Amino acid sequence: MTPIIKVDDMAFPILQVPDLDKQETFLLDFGMKRAHRTKDTLYMRGAGAQPYVHVSTLGPKKFLGSAFHACSMQDLETLAGSDAFGPVEAMTSPGGGYRTSSKDPNGLDVHVVFGIEKTEQETELAMPEFNVGGEERENFQRINKIKRFSKGSFPRIKRYAHCGLNVLDMEESLSWYHAHLGIIASDRLKPGGEGGPLLGIFSRCDRGALPADHHSIFFLPAQMQSKGKPGLNHVSYEMVNIDDVFMGHEILTKKGYEHEWGIGRHYQGSQIFDYWRSPFGHIHEHQTDGDVFDNTVPPQIVDVMQDGDPNHPEMGPSQWGPAINMETFGDERGL
Ligand SMILES: [Fe+2]
Repeated sequence: MTPIIKVDDMAFPILQVPDLDKQETFLLDFGMKRAHRTKDTLYMRGAGAQPYVHVSTLGPKKFLGSAFHACSMQDLETLAGSDAFGPVEAMTSPGGGYRTSSKDPNGLDVHVVFGIEKTEQETELAMPEFNVGGEERENFQRINKIKRFSKGSFPRIKRYAHCGLNVLDMEESLSWYHAHLGIIASDRLKPGGEGGPLLGIFSRCDRGALPADHHSIFFLPAQMQSKGKPGLNHVSYEMVNIDDVFMGHEILTKKGYEHEWGIGRHYQGSQIFDYWRSPFGHIHEHQTDGDVFDNTVPPQIVDVMQDGDPNHPEMGPSQWGPAINMETFGDERGL
């Protein structure tokens, strides 16, 4: 089926929390900066050009949904003309812009936005210089220069990269996101291969010949993860580089936040990752160095039990670093 439009990327998640002060403190420690705050809404930004990458509203704890970037105003209008989406509305949040909104099959809000004005990108986002060693001079990007981070630096966030969603029906959810936003499958997780039970679907934006993150949405089964209740599994932020993942780990440890999983390197998507719980239990991920695919790479079936050490097969292993804690990761505390 031909999708109504194809979105370009993720824009921001919207989380409802009972205490915006606590949320802001956590997000500052996580590496964000305040963009704007009203009586009942907190907008936080990273170091990139987007005016905000995380939205929190005041109320009982709940994940409301995510916003996605459309490629054009025409796409926004086309989507708004479809049955599932509402009319185009002007946004009053930082940077303005326009949106059209719907609900996915799990009752989660889906906003598609266009025209949010970009802000100045911070210089700290400049490409880091790495010396990789060896004989070739081009392996040394830093000659006669030293590399320094001030001790206790806050980790630098580039962008909202993806979300994990615990959903009622993974194939039905993917079909909905494909039909409306052009999302395509990257990997289906099936222990034992083709005939095995479906444990997750990694899916990405179809950007044609342009590279897209291996996953923008990771669908997981709510029945297995969160006692059948749909909602948030995790939100994920792309960091400037590996230094930021470790600097974030150091700060969040020192401040006493609850660590969920990491630091390690994933199989699917290949990111170096580190997962933390907000004071309200929502899981927030720092990650860097993920795989990117254009739309020529077909969906794969991945036998998750084949990854990792063949003598000690484990569910959700890492290429290096600890295995996932299946008891807690993506549980109903994080919805
Ligand atoms: Fe993730």
